[in-house]
Amino acid sequence: MIPKVRKAVFPAAGLGTRFLPATKAQPKEMLPVVDKPLIQYGVEEAMHSGIQNIIIVTGRGKSSIEDHFDVSFELEQLLESKHKSDVLSMVRNISEMIDVCYVRQKEALGLGHAVLRAKELVGTEPFAVVLSDDIIASDTPCVRQLLDVYSYYGASVLALMEVPREQISAYGVVDAELVSDNGRQNRLYRIRNMVEKPKSEDAPSNLAIIGRYVLTPEIFECVESIEPGSGGEIQLTDALKLMLRNRPIYGLKFEGTRYDAGDKLGFLKATVEFALNRHDLGEPFRAYLKTLCIQ
Ligand code: UTP
Repeated sequence: MIPKVRKAVFPAAGLGTRFLPATKAQPKEMLPVVDKPLIQYGVEEAMHSGIQNIIIVTGRGKSSIEDHFDVSFELEQLLESKHKSDVLSMVRNISEMIDVCYVRQKEALGLGHAVLRAKELVGTEPFAVVLSDDIIASDTPCVRQLLDVYSYYGASVLALMEVPREQISAYGVVDAELVSDNGRQNRLYRIRNMVEKPKSEDAPSNLAIIGRYVLTPEIFECVESIEPGSGGEIQLTDALKLMLRNRPIYGLKFEGTRYDAGDKLGFLKATVEFALNRHDLGEPFRAYLKTLCIQ
């Protein structure tokens, strides 16, 4: 029987250098898109995908992430005394939303290293990985889409997206063949090989790995046996490449729109589009944008 995925790991110990100076003293994962921190979008996606346990990998200066998912007695008391019941239930929902635990990555040695820090908490189960600076808007949550593939094939699954050639060097890129699968016409791939941040002329395809994964626990020993790769970091892509020698790995071109909110332009796009889609803000915000007379 294929074991169920119950846990999701959220690596959140990176330095966020692309977003300096905002990330000098606050975690990138707490930057708000409209009014919700990036990491909460990811946590809600995991929950709506049926995941119960959240493991957040944090580092130095990341305590506001823990505070965010904790109970805030003073704030709750104040809201209660002022009879602000809507805001109060929203604040309570955040702390009641998930069963969360934390593990530290003392030094930002790379994504593979961050995932390895969760080994004891994950144990020998399959698990999801969510990089919360990728926000994905979709009808079916992206993690759920990957879980559906996992529960059929019983193998690791990565989220893939077509990326223009000139941007491909910013990603892990796969060499993959299409799998004929009726439910996922032209979207499911079996991965043959992968490379982290290739030069555009060396990229094996235009299919990039995006920040959602479902992994089988063998990934941990693969991370343990690799050396630092691109950028001197322990790369998850290198560990996946090693796992490919013994295990199949699938890639799914997911349905939905991905915003790279760890990048300033991607963050701005997410902010504008999420604000336009909000029932409380969309109309006045659209009216405001129309006054800007942008050339
Ligand atoms: P990024 O590649 O976006 O790196 O990490 P970063 O350090 O956060 O940001 P930049 O590139 O310097 O601006 C992708 C995800 O992996 C986590 C990050 O927190 C982010 O969620 N990560 C990365 C770690 O947890 N530890 C690491 O050592 C590296």
